[in-house]
Formats: sequence, C-alpha cells, structure tokens
Amino acid sequence: MMTSESKKKMPHFGRTVKVRVPGTSANCGAGFDTLGLACTIYNELELTLNDNSELIIENFGDGADDIPKDESNMVWQAIKTTLKKAEVDSDEIGGHLRMWSEVPLSRGLGSSATAIVAGIKAANELMDGRFSDSDMLQIATGIEGHPDNVAPAIYGGFTVSVVTDGVAETMAFMPRFDMHLVVAVPDFPLSTKAARDALPKMVPLKDAVFNVGHAAMLVGALASGDDRFLHHAFEDALHQPYRAKLIPGMSDVFDAAKKAGALGATISGAGSSLIAYTLENERAVGDAMLEAFARNGVNAKVLYLEVDRHGAHVVNE
Ligand code: HSE
Repeated sequence: MMTSESKKKMPHFGRTVKVRVPGTSANCGAGFDTLGLACTIYNELELTLNDNSELIIENFGDGADDIPKDESNMVWQAIKTTLKKAEVDSDEIGGHLRMWSEVPLSRGLGSSATAIVAGIKAANELMDGRFSDSDMLQIATGIEGHPDNVAPAIYGGFTVSVVTDGVAETMAFMPRFDMHLVVAVPDFPLSTKAARDALPKMVPLKDAVFNVGHAAMLVGALASGDDRFLHHAFEDALHQPYRAKLIPGMSDVFDAAKKAGALGATISGAGSSLIAYTLENERAVGDAMLEAFARNGVNAKVLYLEVDRHGAHVVNE
C-alpha cells in the first residue's frame, strides 16, 4: 500500500532517468485477462522532469510517427497519474520524454502496457522509488483496466494476476523449462477495443469450466516443469473462438505451429499477433506459421523471442 510519509515531496527536476520495459503477451490461451508473460522485446524511455510546464516528446522506432507528442501521449499520462498518486502538485510540471520502441503497436504485444509501465517506473525513480512494485501494479492496472499485460511488464517472467475488491495481486515466476516464443506479427493492427467488442457478455458454463481447467493446468505445468501437460493447456473457449473472424487464418496458423512441433499456439493478447510456444524447432514453427498466414492472404513477419526474466528496470548508462 502507498505510504503517506513522503507526501508532497517534489520529484527531482533536471535529473534524467532511463528505464527499459519488456513487451508482453497476455492471456496465454485460457487465462483471459489474468495470465501473461514478459517477452525479450523492449521499449526504453528516457525522462527528465521540469517545473516550467514545457513538454517535449520524441519517439523513435516502431510506429514512432503514430505516437502522439502532446499531452494525450500515454506515457505522459502515466507519468502525470503517478505524480498525482504521490500527491505531487503536477500542474506546473513538464517533461522531456524520449521513447525508443521495439514493440509493434496494436499487435497484441503489450505496447500500451509498456508505455504505461515505462511512465510509472521512470516517474517513480525520479521520486526516489517511493512506490513499490505492488503500488505500481495498482496504478498501472487502474490505467489499463486489467492487470494481465502490465503485470509481466513490471515483474518479468510468467505472471498470474487476480483483482480482488479492486486490489490487483500478481504472482510472477519463470517457467521451469526453456520455452521459446515464436510470434507471427501480421501487417494489420487490431485495436483492443475492437477485439473486446467481439466478445459475448455471457458464456456457457461448460466453456468457463474448460478455461478454469486449462488455465490451471498451464500454470501447474509451467511452475512444476512438467511439460507433458502442456499439449492441450494453451487451448481456450472464452475469447479466441469469438476473435477468429478478426484474424484471418487463425486456426490454420495454430494447426501449422503444432504440426511443426510447437506445444501450442494462441492469440497474443487481443491480437493481431499469434504466438506459438515451443521447446525446440523455433525456425520450423515460424516458417509454418508464416506459410499458413500467407495461404489465408495475410502478410506477416516472425519474431523469435524468449521469456524476459527482469521486467521493468532502470538502465545504467
Ligand atoms: N486480456 C486482454 C484482452 C489483453 O484479451 O482483451 C489485451 O489488453
């Protein structure tokens, strides 16, 4: 919980901090809005705060031209929210933000979560780390609406998150074996809103039961290191069937990945990327996914990633 002892203390002005935040893949199949993992693809933010309201935002890398450079910028909004949570009077505060993005925008790899977490982490650093990781999780979940992407961005590893009476909790751990991530990134974006609008308000009890079992099996297998139980554990009945129409060839890509040796494949977050989880043969899995997408008229590229173990951290230059 946030402490009140350092309330009203101003952040350091003129000091520059740089943070590095991993991209993420949420849901992991059955764990809709609850499971996630951090991936070895990163966004970096360099932040300097000032007390003269001047705001300069520079974006570099993937989608840089599409990212707002004004007050509406998501990183800046997260910084302001963090300052407010610390009861700092942020009206006169400006900043110089430089953001380097590897994480593709609107492709299901947590670009908005990395932006939010980068802003919170950097602002917190300029307030001498007054917020704990758990505090930052509450702030980030409040902004994002659900914890499954922001949690791995903060903690790294594989994350199980729940929200109880409005309070988010995350258990983070590294899978007990080397699970490689093969991500097929289509050339079309998919907004989280569109992907959530495709979902029904109610689901059949049997589908809920299916997901409870599969999510539990997945967590158990990753935590214990028993990969015999992973072959069905990535399956889902709550969101992917409804989102299939938004990602042409989804089922074909899943089948192709499994046939090439993957343990399973899912939508990454809300899409549009599809992610396969494999212990071996990453290149063959990636090629098979690309070919299956191509057969369905979708151009895509493949990213070969691992599970990031560090989460958001300050970069010492
Ligand atoms: N759990 C979220 C969803 C992830 O699938 O809609 C994207 O924010």
